[in-house]
Amino acid sequence: MSQQENLPFEERYYQPPYKALYRESMEYPEKFWRKMAQELEWFSPYEKVLNDSNAPFFRWFEGGKINVTYNSLDRHLKERGNKVALIWENEKGENRSISYLQLYNEVNKFAYALQQLGVKKGDRAVIYLPLMPELPIAMLALARIGAIHSVVFSGFSVQALVDRINDAKAKLVITTTHTLRRGKRVELKGIVDQAVEQTPSVEKVLVIKRDEEPKINEKRDVIYQELTRRMPYKKVEPEETSATDPLFILYTSGTTGKPKGIFHLHGGYGLWTYLTTKWVFDLRDNDVFFNTADIGWITGHSYIVYGPLQNGATTLMYEGVPDYPSPDRWWELVEKYGVTVFYTSPTAIRTLMRYGEEWVKNHDLSNLRILGSVGEPINPEAWRWYFKNVGGSQLPIVDTWWQTETGGIMISATPGLGNYMLKPSANGLPLPGVDADVINEEGLPAKAREKGYIVVKRPWPGMLAGVWNDPDRYIKTYWSKFQGLYYPGDYAVKDEDGFFYILGRADEVLKIAGHRIGTREIEDILISHPAVAESAVIGVPDPVRGEVAVAAVVLKQGHSPNEQLKKELEDYVKKNLGAIVVFKGIYFVTKLPKTRSGKIMRRLVRAVISGQNLGDTSTLEDEASVEELKKAIEEFTKEIREQQKP
Ligand code: WTA
Repeated sequence: MSQQENLPFEERYYQPPYKALYRESMEYPEKFWRKMAQELEWFSPYEKVLNDSNAPFFRWFEGGKINVTYNSLDRHLKERGNKVALIWENEKGENRSISYLQLYNEVNKFAYALQQLGVKKGDRAVIYLPLMPELPIAMLALARIGAIHSVVFSGFSVQALVDRINDAKAKLVITTTHTLRRGKRVELKGIVDQAVEQTPSVEKVLVIKRDEEPKINEKRDVIYQELTRRMPYKKVEPEETSATDPLFILYTSGTTGKPKGIFHLHGGYGLWTYLTTKWVFDLRDNDVFFNTADIGWITGHSYIVYGPLQNGATTLMYEGVPDYPSPDRWWELVEKYGVTVFYTSPTAIRTLMRYGEEWVKNHDLSNLRILGSVGEPINPEAWRWYFKNVGGSQLPIVDTWWQTETGGIMISATPGLGNYMLKPSANGLPLPGVDADVINEEGLPAKAREKGYIVVKRPWPGMLAGVWNDPDRYIKTYWSKFQGLYYPGDYAVKDEDGFFYILGRADEVLKIAGHRIGTREIEDILISHPAVAESAVIGVPDPVRGEVAVAAVVLKQGHSPNEQLKKELEDYVKKNLGAIVVFKGIYFVTKLPKTRSGKIMRRLVRAVISGQNLGDTSTLEDEASVEELKKAIEEFTKEIREQQKP
């Protein structure tokens, strides 16, 4: 016999665990979720995996008692008490490393302070803080006592804050004096002071002191350091919350002016962020995870705080922007802390691309193992740059698709389950438990490469529990376009291999630098300006930010269009809504294209602005409105060309 014949030829080949796990999750969901839920610690067992008797208000692990902070802190103390849980650094290079034990102590102290202020289970507190350690500490402390946190991104301004506090009827606001942005102070307490004038539910404002004495209103404000200075150290046992008790509300933009209070629960959300962190980022004991998002958005909730901490990982948070003081700030941090898993947004990559690759090359990034992207579709050019320069043409890029509503990642490669299969610009395959598909307008499965809507065909533990105070809106927004299916509002295609490609929003929601913002929210602010009668806002592509806003504005009588007013309106939106709203242009017109019944035809505004065919205009009331908008744009383009002449 020749040697060759002796070789044990095997017909089967190795399959990553992903495949089997996915199949199991679809075929035996009950058994699958029971097994998964065992990885967390429960105060008492649940009765039912999924209660679907009140669909679409699905409830996971009903009857069980669990607190996400117990799984994030207490359970690690024995094995990892001295392991670093949280690393924080700011623009100036000041930093803190907080071990699991220290974080546990800080959270207990904060929770005790909250109790002194009368905060109880089920109460809502709004957190308006920059990326400082007290932000996750406050979240965990509130969750520990069963209160509900609602973090408002610190880049939002007065009106956005007022709306969110009022909708949640928060009794406490937690803030600080300021943050630094590109070396400049950004005042936060001043914004809270203005906001709470208009929020009757707020009883107290808890102020975290930074380097100076905050100016306070004696009746209302409490300085955290003063409250806790003479306080005895007391452990606060975690509230034995039900799996179905709300953990947080996070407001996000939809198609009306009023933001939606998406709320998530201790059990399902906790499990989903725990599992997805493990499956996608493959976090192991000596990993350092750097997610560049702000905790004011869902990405930070799930993958700076709850996912990594429940996994006992080390998570790094950076209070600053990527290109200040220089465009290698992030690479400096990656090198300094030996970051192994790095998660960011396409906008950030496009921003850094413009500075050139030299800024990356000067750093030793050899500890990196996995790269991630989130928030918007990543264009091939940015993908290649990220892959080549940051990943040294070797590392997997997990392009994770998900939403505030889904709680955690839904579609992505899963290195933690051995699935490294990647295609540039594809998000990948659904995670175990995610029954996703692409369907067309008629509700039928789309063919391979046919554009349609992404849907999720059965509930999963991380799903939103509802829209705060608005059950009808929950049903209408997510469960009505296609009967019995969850509708995320994104266009997508699937290829022959079952890979999903998410193409972008199918509704009136913009993604400016990955930040989700509704066109109606911007319009409502514009209309509140004394000079504005009407406005229509649309999104147009932008090479760096992905998308930016354009507004067509009708002025009130007695106001005339001029450059100064344009600037004033832009500043007004930034001041009232937030600096994240970036305009490409504001056009003044005397009327907007409307239907005969008076509805603004945004589709036409969009077609004119992007120079596309107008399509069907039979319902248009007044053709002249379109002509006028065209003219305004022509003049604007001419102006820009004039300005650009040498
Ligand atoms: C978009 C952010 C393409 C999508 C986690 C979704 C993406 C919206 C991706 C949710 C991605 C998020 N590829 N598009 N990898 N990730 N999106 O609630 O349009 O701020 O519906 O959650 O972002 O935005 P949100």
